[in-house]
Amino acid sequence: MTQDELFKILVAHCKEYGFIFPSSEIYDGLAAVYDYGQMGVELKNNIKQYWWNAMTRLNENIVGIDAAVFMHPSTWVASGHVAAFNDPLIDNRDSKKRYRADVLIEDYLSKIEEKIEKEVAKGRKRFGDAFDEAQFRATNPNVLREKAHYDEVHARYKKAEDTNDLAEYKQIILDLGIVCPISGTKNWTDVRQFNLMFSTQFGSTGEGANTVYLRPETAQGIFVDYINVQKTGRMKVPFGIAQIGKAFRNEVVARQFIFRMREFEQMEMEFFCKPGTEMEWFKKWKENRMKWHVNLGMGAENYRFHDHEKLAHYANAATDIEFHFPFGFKELEGIHSRTDFDLGNHQQLSGRKLTYFDPETGESYVPYCVETSIGVDRMFLAVLSHSYKQETLENGETRVVLSLPAPLAPVKAAILPLVKKDGLPEVAQEIMNDLKYDFNCQYEDKDSIGKRYRRQDAIGTPYCITVDHDTLNDHCVTVRDRDTMQQERVPIAELKALIDKKVNLNNLLRNL
Ligand code: GAP
Repeated sequence: MTQDELFKILVAHCKEYGFIFPSSEIYDGLAAVYDYGQMGVELKNNIKQYWWNAMTRLNENIVGIDAAVFMHPSTWVASGHVAAFNDPLIDNRDSKKRYRADVLIEDYLSKIEEKIEKEVAKGRKRFGDAFDEAQFRATNPNVLREKAHYDEVHARYKKAEDTNDLAEYKQIILDLGIVCPISGTKNWTDVRQFNLMFSTQFGSTGEGANTVYLRPETAQGIFVDYINVQKTGRMKVPFGIAQIGKAFRNEVVARQFIFRMREFEQMEMEFFCKPGTEMEWFKKWKENRMKWHVNLGMGAENYRFHDHEKLAHYANAATDIEFHFPFGFKELEGIHSRTDFDLGNHQQLSGRKLTYFDPETGESYVPYCVETSIGVDRMFLAVLSHSYKQETLENGETRVVLSLPAPLAPVKAAILPLVKKDGLPEVAQEIMNDLKYDFNCQYEDKDSIGKRYRRQDAIGTPYCITVDHDTLNDHCVTVRDRDTMQQERVPIAELKALIDKKVNLNNLLRNL
């Protein structure tokens, strides 16, 4: 199965099992906007809880807030979003389709990378155990030719990006012969900048309405509340403020399902520290955040850091944590050392003092800030795409299973009476009534037990608990493990402890 095919199957699976629906689907949907269904919301909440508890409970110097989506318009002037939160756009005159010029070039570069990887794979197949990858990459003529071409295009592209040279973007597209995927032509318009913020009117026109923006990041809510939290919480630098909330961006090229959405959710933490200590904190937060990811058990090899070559004007260090999505390694989280750019600008524009008085040294300063920022939806996609598996069983049957990290699974246990008679439903319901206070459980009595197991596998339920006729006498149930499919007989009285051991989020948190 190609990665593309896997991705399509994943999207269909999400819809079939109530994880994600296209927004307002009965009206044919709204591009790049999605709703989380009955299973999706549970998984999403569990991801958020893992992040929130890791930030605010495990760190005594991090507290949380929940700021409004609407903010004073000056916020976005101070943050630089009004002036510079732009994407370079280009239209194809024949198809009337709009593209991001930088994405067209990056896609071209990705194709060169794919060609190189194909050559390497061929070499590996040809030479078997004797294959020396480093030597092959350094000497194979096809690889060298493609690499030289990549370097040349990449250098041109980076220069255009650094100098914000929109005419050069267009020239690169023309020189590389990039065509519109719809019309197949090179009939391109000039490249122009497009601001990604959604705006709306605040107050009635009679009152003199103001243009306000839907926040494109949650971080600014933290910066403008910084002084309130510091003072009311009597926080001492270094300390952090965490927030989970919606963000909105009018993405030009919104694709790859929930990877790039127009309405999405972020989990951001701004860590305020003394100027001069920020690189130490940057390093600590890089390590801390990678540990949080790897702790989920989805394979350390599926994550990597990607340090930014070009830094935003306010940053003095930046890296992405990339995850191996079905469409390659892509950004999952950003970690940025933002200096005093945000607080400094807000102080200047608002006229309010945002300095911190250090009682130990007697100094006053605007704190520096290290930010960790991850999209909830992107994290959801990472977990889901890694967990989706089609397996062929020993008896030749196939099953689809979501091997989700157990504490994140939407349903922790399914309670299944073998038949709908002989007093079995009553016992099953009793077990359900007992367990439901500790775990999200599902009671299911329709279809054969095999079909019910398959349905629970497909939503990633770690345990299926079957009540049969023997249960009436021995007060034991059959517990089936999602991953091993092993079944064991367990006394009803021991169920809670058994399930808890595997699904309790605190077990994950204790390993951090
Ligand atoms: N405050 C910093 C900030 O917003 P960013 O790199 O633009 O930085 C941070 O975004 C994270 O938010 C990304 O790593 C990604 O996980 C998520 N994200 C950004 N744009 C997104 C979009 N359109 N759809 C889904 N997630 C997005």
